[in-house]
Amino acid sequence: MKNILVLGSGGQIGSELTLKLREIYGAANVVATDLNPNRLTQQIKDGGPCHACDATDAKQIAQIVADYKIDGIYNLVAILSATAEKNPMLGWNVGMGALLNCLEVAREYKAALFTPSSIGAFGPGTPLNGTPQDTIQRPRTIYGVTKVTGELLSDYYFSRYGVDTRSVRFPGLISYVMPPGGGTTDYAVDIYYAAVMGKKFVCPLSKETQLDMMYMPDAIDAAINIMEADADKLIHRNSFNVTAMHFTPEEIYAEIRKHKPDFIMTYESDPLKQAIADLWPNWMDDSCARKEWGFAPKYDLPKMTVDMLEKLSEKLL
Ligand code: NAD
Ligand code: SER
Repeated sequence: MKNILVLGSGGQIGSELTLKLREIYGAANVVATDLNPNRLTQQIKDGGPCHACDATDAKQIAQIVADYKIDGIYNLVAILSATAEKNPMLGWNVGMGALLNCLEVAREYKAALFTPSSIGAFGPGTPLNGTPQDTIQRPRTIYGVTKVTGELLSDYYFSRYGVDTRSVRFPGLISYVMPPGGGTTDYAVDIYYAAVMGKKFVCPLSKETQLDMMYMPDAIDAAINIMEADADKLIHRNSFNVTAMHFTPEEIYAEIRKHKPDFIMTYESDPLKQAIADLWPNWMDDSCARKEWGFAPKYDLPKMTVDMLEKLSEKLL
């Protein structure tokens, strides 16, 4: 890829991925866009081309792709699980609208396309421990339904039209730059903010709810490395299980308390988030990603905790 378009640069992933792509491919060659350009950080606005773009409008995407001779698209537009469940039509229209437009534009302009899937693509019937790469996917959330549909459509565009579509099933992502956008795993970010601000934290998930997670630097590397991977080595495309760690609220709490012994967490269930989390894997098997394109995350829970507390202290205190 030489010229890259990022859709959703103002989000949790886009705010960091856009900067890393500019470092690698050159600032002038990475176009940052969002429905709401006010969400773009100052560093993104100052560092290279930026545009408002509504990804549910194919013409807007096509115009930028033509103007900048784009040959790679990172489509980060979606409504996350908990928010989408409160407004399913919005979740479907935004997630599927953006993806279908991207697929069609990618087909017409011969661009490669990355669209993340999620642990939300699993549901009842999926083995929750060691969730295999290829397994039952019958999610009961609209978010999950859009993710499974997206995986199928992306594979379809590859086999039918040769569009170079690739994807990973991200677990909950933890980061300190941009707050998460309304997902079930947001607690694992919010807990660090509370710990650094010296506030009590009320956890919306039960103490034994175990979920896969990943620190943002590893997620950014995964998004870039899969797009750079040798196509001949890919047996799968849409989408690869990837994970870096899994923990329960009790385990992340204990890890934070090693550094902040006075930090207090209590529990108050959010029934919607709990119901969603209960149907997601406890831990996924990501051996296909490791074998086919060398996925190798660097952060575990202790290492991430040290970095999150340090970076958030610099930002907030
Ligand atoms: P986010 O909600 O933080 O960011 C999404 C961005 O898209 C926002 O800046 C929003 O303004 C923008 N947007 C919304 N509607 C738009 C539209 N019509 N046109 C253009 N932009 C629009 O999301 P994120 O956490 O960065 O997630 C990005 C992708 O990764 C999504 O597909 C999400 O499902 C997936 N994912 C995220 C996580 C996670 O933990 N963050 C985990 C698994 C998968
Ligand atoms: N973090 C995301 C969510 O909870 C997982 O896809 O919605």
